[in-house]
Amino acid sequence: MDNTFLIGPFKQLLTLQNLPIKGALRDDDLEILDNGGLYIKNGLIEEVGNWGVLNQTLSPDIQRVAIDENSICLPSYIDCHTHIAFGGNRANDFAMRNAGRSYLEIAESGGGIWSTVQHTRACSQEEQTQLILERAYQLLQQGITTIEVKSGYGLSIEEELKTLRAVQKAHQRSSVDLIATCLAAHIKPKDFDGTSEQYLQKIAHVLFPILQAENLCHRIDAFVEKSAFSAQEILPYLQKAKVLGFDITLHADQFTTSGSQVAINLGALSADHLEASGDIEIQNLANSNVVAVALPAASLGLGCDFTPARKLLDAGASLAIATDWNPGSAPMGQLIASASILATMQKLSNAEILAGITFRAAKALGLADRGRLQKGYLADFVLYQTNHYQQIIYQQGRLQPFEVWKNGQRIFNK
Ligand code: NIG
Ligand code: FE
Repeated sequence: MDNTFLIGPFKQLLTLQNLPIKGALRDDDLEILDNGGLYIKNGLIEEVGNWGVLNQTLSPDIQRVAIDENSICLPSYIDCHTHIAFGGNRANDFAMRNAGRSYLEIAESGGGIWSTVQHTRACSQEEQTQLILERAYQLLQQGITTIEVKSGYGLSIEEELKTLRAVQKAHQRSSVDLIATCLAAHIKPKDFDGTSEQYLQKIAHVLFPILQAENLCHRIDAFVEKSAFSAQEILPYLQKAKVLGFDITLHADQFTTSGSQVAINLGALSADHLEASGDIEIQNLANSNVVAVALPAASLGLGCDFTPARKLLDAGASLAIATDWNPGSAPMGQLIASASILATMQKLSNAEILAGITFRAAKALGLADRGRLQKGYLADFVLYQTNHYQQIIYQQGRLQPFEVWKNGQRIFNK
C-alpha cells in the first residue's frame, strides 16, 4: 500500500497533542476527537481532524482506508527500557526469591546477572538476533513500535559488540524501531582481571570508539548501585561518554540512592527504576529535565516497592513507564498490564499512563518525532476494537490492539 491515505472514522481519536512533557495530568486534559480521521502523507501525519470534514475536503484521488469496526485510535507505544538481548532464563532465581532469598543474595551466590551473561555469551550473533526479533514481535502485538534494547549481558569488548551488532541486524529486519543502548557497565564481569575502574577504562577507551565507528549505538547506560558501580567509579566513565557525544541513561536508585543525582549532574536523558528515591531525590528530579522512568514489571518480578510515580508527577517530574523486560528482575514483558497495575498502586490517571508510554517515553529516548498524533509526526498508531479509551487501562492488558501501524504501514493485523 502507498503510504499516503486518509484513515478512519474512529469512534475516538486520542491525539495526546498539547499535553506537557512534565507534571501531573488529568483525563480532562486529553484531546479526544469523536469520529476522527488521520490524513497520512508519505508515512507522516499530515492532518488530524474530523473524518467527515477530511473526507469531503481531500481530493478523491487520495486513497481512503475505511475502518468499519467500532474502534479507537491513539499513538502507538514506546518501550524506552528493555534488556531483550539475552539467552537462557532465570526461573530458578525467581523461585529462590519467592522462597525468601533476596535479589542481591542470589546474585552474590552465582545466580543473577552473571548467570545470564554466560547464557548470552553462548549464543551466536545470529541466535541473539533471532531472540531479539521474537521478543520485539511480542512487544509489537501489544502496540509497541519503538523499543529500546540494551546490551549488558556480554561484558567484554567482543561480547558487547556481538550483542550490539545483533541489535543492529534485528533493527534492519524488523518493522519496528529498535534503539540500541550500551550497558557494558551493568556489573563488573567476574572474569575481568582488574578493578572496576580498570574495567570501565577499558570499555571507554576500546569499545566506545568502535560503537561510533560502526554506528552501533549513541546511548550509554550504567547500573549505579552497591552491587554494581558506585557514583564515584562511574563518573569518569560517563564523562568520557558525554565528551564523545553519547546520550546518557542510568539504572538509578533501585535499591539505594545516588544514581539519580549522577543522572541529574550529567544531564542524562533518563533515570530509570527510582524505587528507593526519597523526597530529596524526587524534588531534584522534578527540578531537572531528566525523565524519571518507572519499571513496574521489575517491582512485580522482585516483589518490591513501586517507583513513587505519584509523588514524582505531583512534584513536577516527567514520568515514563517501560517494561524493563529482562530474565532476572522483570520477566513479564507486558507494558499495558504492568503500567495498569502501577496506575492502581500509585493512583495515576489514564492520561499519565498514556503519556508515560508515548511522548514522555520518546523524550526518554531523545526522540521528538513520535508519541503524539500531530502534523509532522511519524504515522505510528494503534487501533483497538472498543468504543472508549478507558478500556485500555481498565482491562489491564487483556484488551489488545487489532491493528498496529508504523510509518504509515500496517505492520500488525489480528
Ligand atoms: O533493570 N538492575 C539492573 N538491571 C536489570 C536487571 C538485570 C538482571 O537481573 O538480569 C534491571 O532490573
Ligand atoms: Fe533495566
